[in-house]
Amino acid sequence: MRARIVLAVLFLVGAGTLARGDDKPIDRADLDKRIVMTVYESAVLGTDIFNKGGHAECYRLYQGTLMAVHPLLDHRPKLQANVKTRLERAAKMKAADAAFELRTALDEVQNEIAPSKVAKKALWDRLGGEKSVRVVVQDFIVAAAKDPKVNFDRNGKFKFDDKAIKHLEQMLVELISETTGGPLKYTGKSMDAVHKGMGITDAEFDALAGVLIDVLKKHKVPQAEIDELVKIVAGTRGAIVEKKN
Ligand code: HEM
Repeated sequence: MRARIVLAVLFLVGAGTLARGDDKPIDRADLDKRIVMTVYESAVLGTDIFNKGGHAECYRLYQGTLMAVHPLLDHRPKLQANVKTRLERAAKMKAADAAFELRTALDEVQNEIAPSKVAKKALWDRLGGEKSVRVVVQDFIVAAAKDPKVNFDRNGKFKFDDKAIKHLEQMLVELISETTGGPLKYTGKSMDAVHKGMGITDAEFDALAGVLIDVLKKHKVPQAEIDELVKIVAGTRGAIVEKKN
């Protein structure tokens, strides 16, 4: 199966370099487009495989894709060298980390050649949809509640029993869905109404953002998706923070 995927990728890229249907040689711009589509499709497929637990399979898919794409990047020597370095680095890592390393290389190829040419999947889908987001949210709530720098329960003022935690989890999943292109609509209160009077400081908000980044990293969410989600969360600062430190 893995061999078939790698072969398909090799064929896809290889076929593009030889000729078009009309037998005219392919130009660089066209080749670039095909490279970008190939790395994009590999990243989407790999994310799905990774999220189902196939860390080694995902790594090998990315490795095959990058091995095929590498010789086609001779007109972009810096990018080409970078792909080689990441492939070598990944070969010494555990499968999950290697997949992560090579996903970064795929993103770099895509971003350098055509930052906006490829229609990206919704962030919600790139995060793995409801199942993956819910697992991250559950971990995030536990980690945030434990961190004194966040002071999530406002010195014990809010009681988080099982029912309250389940509710918060559902609200956060819905909020992430709504703001990242997912199918669930947010049914909770507005951010300013719910946090009003809590006296949340910038430092506490920063600490919470730090907890979120750590949890996303722990779940091997790629840096590009982390950056996008953190940017969305940062947009709520004005509604949540009441006190400058
Ligand atoms: C240091 C920063 C924060 C603290 C201390 C904090 C604290 C809290 C607390 C104590 C509650 C429960 C309120 C209640 O039961 O009435 C709550 C609810 C909630 N918070 Fe935060 N929060 C923070 C930041 C954020 C951020 C950044 C987001 C999302 C971008 C967020 C989203 C929510 C949501 C969706 C709810 C549930 C709303 C509902 O029940 O309708 N919070 N927060």
